Amino acid sequence: MSDIHVVILAAGKGTRMKSHLPKVVHKIGALTLIERVLRTASGLFPDSITVVVGHGADEVKQALQKRTALQFVTQEQQLGTGHALLQTRSLLEGKTGTVVLLSGDVPLLSTSSLKALLETHIQSNAAATVITANFPRPFGYGRIVRTNGNITKIVEERDTSPTQKKITEINSGIYAFDLPPLFAALDSIGTTNKQNEYYLPDLVAIYRKQKRVVATWTVQLGDEIRGINSRTELAEVSSMVRQQKNEELMAAGVTLIDPATTYIDADVVVGADTVIYPCVFLEGSTRIGSACEIHSGTRIVNSTVGDRVCVKNHTVVTDSTVETGAIVGPFAHIRPGSAVGENAHVGNFVELKKTALGKGAKANHLAYLGDATIGAKTNVGAGTITCNYDGEQKHQTVIGSGVFVGSNSTLIAPVTLADGSYIAAGSAVTTDVPAGALAIGRARQENKVGWTAKRASKKADV
Ligand code: UD1
Ligand code: MG
Repeated sequence: MSDIHVVILAAGKGTRMKSHLPKVVHKIGALTLIERVLRTASGLFPDSITVVVGHGADEVKQALQKRTALQFVTQEQQLGTGHALLQTRSLLEGKTGTVVLLSGDVPLLSTSSLKALLETHIQSNAAATVITANFPRPFGYGRIVRTNGNITKIVEERDTSPTQKKITEINSGIYAFDLPPLFAALDSIGTTNKQNEYYLPDLVAIYRKQKRVVATWTVQLGDEIRGINSRTELAEVSSMVRQQKNEELMAAGVTLIDPATTYIDADVVVGADTVIYPCVFLEGSTRIGSACEIHSGTRIVNSTVGDRVCVKNHTVVTDSTVETGAIVGPFAHIRPGSAVGENAHVGNFVELKKTALGKGAKANHLAYLGDATIGAKTNVGAGTITCNYDGEQKHQTVIGSGVFVGSNSTLIAPVTLADGSYIAAGSAVTTDVPAGALAIGRARQENKVGWTAKRASKKADV
């Protein structure tokens, strides 16, 4: 196939979104609209990708900063889609091959449809090929006007005659253009239309007058070319994307108790026989093993969960790992940089931050464990706090294996509790505890025998 140059139009404001952000950086799941379009484009392995930015250019570039091999051109004033494509002149004029023109606000298009567009374009020897679709309710889209079956022009909704309004074949806004004649033809597009804009679809009529071939390829699934112009459309398309991901997972052996309230991002992986309860959010690069239970109200972000893990209700896990057989929650908060070991237990109202909990270790109730490493089979009692912050710096707490930390202990970091040590309940531990030692760090209790009766008799004397 000859050289392919992808151009993505993303300079428009997206007025109907009523947003401070440019439209193409709004998200469907974890991915911005423009990122989705780029993924589709990358599937063609093009020779170049150019994004036309304008309104909110900085935000669009910022959203794409992780992408390499992109070039940007700026359309200072948004004078129409024809004018937008003209901005790529300095980069593309004089080259041979094909321009594939995409819209930054059409996120569901598949790479296979683009390949079909290119095949039609090349086989028909066309100067331009348009992706069209048949929409029973075509309102808002440009209409494809044909004579004897051949496309002759595209008419925008606002410029249609009453007869043209009834045409159900619409313009997707996605095209393939043969490069050599393109820029001269773009120069001849005018602005005599209701919006006084340079309409890219006018290229069809221009080419037909020049007796050049213009072809069409009709997409079967109209949803693929749905554009996002409002928050309602964003929500509708998001729901379609979620449904598709959920169906893929169910087909691969994952049970979703209620797919309608299960929110799983595109890149998330879930193993077979895992059961996901309603109102669960699995986000970013999260990977869940097989035969897990993920209960309602849980949110897991960019984290790895092993096999046979039970995550009980209302647990939040972020940028962390939970290994095979562990039980986490309900109401646990596993913050970034944490690792819950194999068969370890983290119970209700326990917060971990940059903390590794060893194999089979338990922190079952009401604890804050930050900047700590905790060895295998250690038991962390209810109410234990690692005091990791002295007001200026964070410090480490190191707890060995087989340690018993009594309830309501305060471990003042930096401090080390060596293997097999015991901490008496209610201790404030300020110095290291040797292996096998018992540390008691609290005031000794004194019992005043007969005190209650004495107080009562004093009151009676008054
Ligand atoms: C466009 C087509 C219409 C088609 C529809 C499909 C035109 C004139 N009309 O209409 O035939 O049915 O898409 O969705 O092309 N943009 C710029 N610079 C501009 C104007 C727009 O970069 O000056 C970008 C927008 O950011 C957007 C894309 O081009 O990504 C399409 O523009 P939009 O205003 O949404 O065009 P539609 O009215 O949807
Ligand atoms: Mg649009």
